[in-house]
Amino acid sequence: MNDVKTILMLDGDGIGPEVMRETRRVIDWFSANGGTRYELTNGLVGGASYDAHGQPLTDDTLKLASEADAVLLGAVGGPQWEDLNFDKKPERGLLGLRKELGLFANLRPAVVFEALAEASTLKTDIVAGLNMIIVRELTGGIYFGEPRGVEKLPDGSRKGVNSLVYTSDEVERIARVAFDLAKKRNGRLCSVDKANVLECTLMWRETVEQVHADYPQVALSHMYVDNAAMQLVRDPKQFDVIVTTNMFGDILSDCAAMLTGSLGMLPSASLGEKCADGRIPSMYEPVHGSAPDIAGKNLANPLAAILSFAMMLRYSFDDTTSADTLEDAVKRLLVSGARTADIMEAGGRQVSTSEMGDAILFELENTAS
Ligand code: IPM
Ligand code: MG
Repeated sequence: MNDVKTILMLDGDGIGPEVMRETRRVIDWFSANGGTRYELTNGLVGGASYDAHGQPLTDDTLKLASEADAVLLGAVGGPQWEDLNFDKKPERGLLGLRKELGLFANLRPAVVFEALAEASTLKTDIVAGLNMIIVRELTGGIYFGEPRGVEKLPDGSRKGVNSLVYTSDEVERIARVAFDLAKKRNGRLCSVDKANVLECTLMWRETVEQVHADYPQVALSHMYVDNAAMQLVRDPKQFDVIVTTNMFGDILSDCAAMLTGSLGMLPSASLGEKCADGRIPSMYEPVHGSAPDIAGKNLANPLAAILSFAMMLRYSFDDTTSADTLEDAVKRLLVSGARTADIMEAGGRQVSTSEMGDAILFELENTAS
């Protein structure tokens, strides 16, 4: 009997529905051609959910997410929702899913595909062959710390507060994810902090040091975040795995993404702690945003969403073979010259979102034969 897995598809806003449409075709191909059948359910999140239900994340979507074996999300946000109150903004839907599902570990690979090395704004020899991953803590830090908010002072001026808060347990748990990953890769872990200024991140550094005792095979280094930003553009290939706080990871991962030539190529995984039934709550999403300027025009690059499914195969379903099959198909189609508008700098023939979907299915068919 075929194994069955359920995936909750949250298309979201902007280019979300378009890139997810092509990803559905890829998932269906694996259902038809692999050992596992994927049952897809659908839900609303972000602006789409706000428009339908007046809030960016409903209990129904949350329930579907917690019941699914994994969640795949397109993108959230857009100018039409920018003036909403903080708790109604599309981004709150994303943050709510992360928090409610306990997705504390965010894996953001930055991989330069050989065929695209020239699309980077950096010199080709600086980025060619880059293959690093940022492990970003996702449910703590300044994104969620209390106290927070803006208050009015007696003199009529206002005071805004956000708090950077971590417990050593939270640091230890994310450090273990990063050490485990480094162990399976090239054995190098760089922990990024601001320990020269922020006490909280000095505690972060000390805790990572302690966890290191359990991973003698991993070479651990530490870097201040300002230096890390500089090193990422100076010599990115010095990095294998970076582990860092929620906000530093947010910033550094955009920088790392740009090294690769296109945000449209990068997937991400957000993982939680193993449940009693053995499942690991997980959500996969492209690193790119909702790109409202090109939404609905069949121009967006669906590869980040498609590669997010490859990450799901690898991390949620332990199916390395299918993940490799899919990633290899993407590499081949890039070599074949298919390019969406965002990666045209690397030369080739421009294709639409749906034609990119056709191209990946063509490559997958080639694998099978
Ligand atoms: C990201 C995004 C989000 C974040 C926003 C949309 C809330 O920038 O996933 O990197 O800041 O985490
Ligand atoms: Mg970001």
